[in-house]
Amino acid sequence: MAIFKKKNVAERILPDHIAIIMDGNGRWAKKRSLPRTAGHAAGSKNFKDIARYCNKIGLKYLTVYAFSTENWKRPKEEVDNIMKIFKEYLEDAKNFKDENIQVQFIGDRSVLDEDIQRLMKESEDASCDATGLHLNIAINYGGRDEIVHAVKNIVDSGIDAKDITEKTITDSLYTAGQPDPDFIIRPSGEYRLSNYLIWQSAYAEYWFSDILWPDFKPKDLDRAIEEFNKRNRRFGGV
Ligand code: FPP
Repeated sequence: MAIFKKKNVAERILPDHIAIIMDGNGRWAKKRSLPRTAGHAAGSKNFKDIARYCNKIGLKYLTVYAFSTENWKRPKEEVDNIMKIFKEYLEDAKNFKDENIQVQFIGDRSVLDEDIQRLMKESEDASCDATGLHLNIAINYGGRDEIVHAVKNIVDSGIDAKDITEKTITDSLYTAGQPDPDFIIRPSGEYRLSNYLIWQSAYAEYWFSDILWPDFKPKDLDRAIEEFNKRNRRFGGV
């Protein structure tokens, strides 16, 4: 675990892996009488700021929930708009390369537009040697879907049922090789996991807040990390 030092703040332990549900874009826009699309644009800008901040403080892993397997149920216009914002981010992703952030996408990308899939691969390839923050962007991601995917791969590998362990499953998830998220943050006043990293979050600590995602600033992340430092993690022990 990295020690996070900040002026005027006592030394703090950073989580190994923070996972954020970027919720509340729609309500942020509604409060300002703006279309929901403006909320997603503000959410996207905030995502970039928070990712940069996480990299700056030395966090090793950050996973953000950008689009779930359930989000296809939204009106087509809104889905198209989120995909457009995502594509703009990908086209601009070279800015992230200079910041030494390694980008990885988790989720079933096979149903996304070919253009977007190509840009995703380019962004992963261009940043694969980065040694700073490892940024997972969950897109068309669902925890149950991920487990189904893993089970199919395990069956296809021909492994004997008696040889299957928890590690077999962990190693078959999109997040194979990464530490489990130890801190999950959900702003916007909802208290749900929403099919997010359901296998990986078995022992995670949770932090909820009423702040809407576009208003969630580095100081709020600092506050959440302070709270994480107060938790007594026992992993089922005493
Ligand atoms: C949840 O807020 C947000 C989403 C489903 C989309 C998140 C998308 C982005 C932040 C932009 C694209 C992402 C990247 C990585 C560039 P909501 O719409 O459910 O808000 P509400 O609950 O207030 O309606």
